[in-house]
Amino acid sequence: MSGQAERFDDAARREFARHGRTVVRPGTLLRHPVYTRVLHWSVAIFFVLSLLTGFAIYSPWLYRWLAPLFGGGPMTRFLHPWFGLAFDLAFFFQFVNWFAPMAWTAADRRWLRRVKAYATNEEKVEAEDVGFFNGGQKLYFWAIVVSGLLFLVTGLPLWFDDAAPRWLVALSYVVHDIAALIMLAGFIVHVYEGTAAQPGTFSSMTDGTVTDEWAWTHHPAWYREATGRDPREDYEQAK
Ligand code: HEM
Repeated sequence: MSGQAERFDDAARREFARHGRTVVRPGTLLRHPVYTRVLHWSVAIFFVLSLLTGFAIYSPWLYRWLAPLFGGGPMTRFLHPWFGLAFDLAFFFQFVNWFAPMAWTAADRRWLRRVKAYATNEEKVEAEDVGFFNGGQKLYFWAIVVSGLLFLVTGLPLWFDDAAPRWLVALSYVVHDIAALIMLAGFIVHVYEGTAAQPGTFSSMTDGTVTDEWAWTHHPAWYREATGRDPREDYEQAK
């Protein structure tokens, strides 16, 4: 990240913190500041709007009940690229915000080798080297980066199809739709992991905090860094 981006980010974080509030109670840790939460929910809102309007113009079966929600067919077709642009813009700021903690490390490679045990909840606590984000969260983030770029590059020829060659428009349809289906699958897994699968995670994106117990269970290395305490010792003591 360039020095300029850090300065821009710091100023934005301070400004958002002045307007919103995060109360960190005893036994909890600050996970996501106001700035991150506002960006996350802006990305989520524009993603869902893009998805709904996109599916409405994708298939006649969905068109029948989705298009009226957005004021009919032509309006839905008009709105979709604007929702998509807003999604990309909001995610660009989140990209700058999260670029550093999303860097891929050796710990993430090890996490990936244990992914089956993670998915089946075999282990009660995560391995000690799991930091602020785990390998799965980072993969989701980088999949959005690639898809966000693909949406933009293929969305422009579809938007201005009169000005683009036919082969480019045809290719753009295929790539745009594949990216959307991958994002839809990722979104379903993400919502499940952020709510029902890992209780206590959702509050990190609402009030911005998580319990100590959540932190030593899911992100032990981050817990050690944030508190200076031993995650395994605290886990054993709490047991
Ligand atoms: C609408 C339902 C959604 C819910 C309930 C939800 C929930 C959450 C929660 C609780 C976190 C924090 C996880 C943590 O701190 O460990 C998170 C992070 C994140 N969210 Fe969402 N989110 C939603 C939609 C979206 C959408 C639509 C996107 C982008 C297309 C998105 C992208 C991300 C990313 C990249 C992260 C960081 C990595 C990760 O935790 O997977 N989220 N989300």
